[in-house]
Amino acid sequence: MSDKKKKASKANEQSVGHSGYSIQPGKETILSGMQPTGALHIGNLEGALRNWVDLQDSYEMFCCIVDWHALTAEFKDTAGLKDRIYVMAVDWLASGLDPEKCAIFIQSEVRAHAELHLLLSMMISVPTLTRLPTYIEKKDEQGMDSYGFLGYPVLQAADILVYGAHKVPVGKDQSKHIWLANDLAKRFNHYYGPTLVEPSTLLTKIPLIPGTDGKKMSKSMDNHIAITASEEETSAKLKRMFTDPQKLRKNDPGRPEVCPVYKLHEVYSASENIAETIAPQCRSGELGCVDCKMRLAKNLNETLAPMREKRVEIEKNTGFIWDVLRDGAVKANERTEIVMDNVRSAMKMKYHD
Ligand code: TRP
Repeated sequence: MSDKKKKASKANEQSVGHSGYSIQPGKETILSGMQPTGALHIGNLEGALRNWVDLQDSYEMFCCIVDWHALTAEFKDTAGLKDRIYVMAVDWLASGLDPEKCAIFIQSEVRAHAELHLLLSMMISVPTLTRLPTYIEKKDEQGMDSYGFLGYPVLQAADILVYGAHKVPVGKDQSKHIWLANDLAKRFNHYYGPTLVEPSTLLTKIPLIPGTDGKKMSKSMDNHIAITASEEETSAKLKRMFTDPQKLRKNDPGRPEVCPVYKLHEVYSASENIAETIAPQCRSGELGCVDCKMRLAKNLNETLAPMREKRVEIEKNTGFIWDVLRDGAVKANERTEIVMDNVRSAMKMKYHD
């Protein structure tokens, strides 16, 4: 092993997960984050949350509501932020994230993210950031091409590195950001000695959840189905959902492989053996789109029912959610203080022993 590699693996072994403050001692650490967009939709549920819920048993997990990241898109109108954080935290708990198993907290309540962000910002060039695809794609949508927006991935790197996280569960669109976090950890370790864990992406197979217009599900496109929606709202949204554009009348033959409703059946009607039931009935024209959608609505509503019930239970006690977030921040702060103490020592910036 080269000296450099030895150094890096030393930092990874020294990870605080095995020595300092731990929620689940001896386990590798995961950091995951989501912007506070308010009520979550089934795309968020299948694309991230279910995975997080599975991971909380095998890893020491920190789940962060990244409110500072939300400011990079909208910093003037912050009035709704608190509600969006609350609603999202309720959805997280309703989906099965367990505050006994993982820390659930708000980014801005753990100031160390900002401190490490500042330090890391010295170690990366502006052209590296302006070349990132996420920057290029989103730059024109931003009200202002701000300094904060440019630093979005550096803040994300700080979110990850400040916990000594080994793995970050994200979709493919975020893998460049995780690569950047890994690169910043390597640079830090190169300049100041092995200190930061070099994280990697935990890519998982994520089912494709199309929106009701057949495009990617997104709240801003209003093609989403919220976890919180009522059964009636869900059915009404599905009724209007796009299908195979060549299937205009009930008896027209359809093509399940191009139909977004069929994509959702693949996720929510798996128990019906759809390849042998729905698919051939659609192809032959025997099954009309309206009936097909109503079968989907029934299955989707059944899947979401336990979460919806849990949500009602949780919401009876507003204080509970804020307590969970406060306790989560305490755990997060304990962990980040250990890492930041190492960072300050490594940088010879602990002026008073
Ligand atoms: N950029 C992520 C997204 O848009 C959100 C995020 C912020 C994040 N910090 C993070 C994700 C740290 C994982 C780890 O989805």
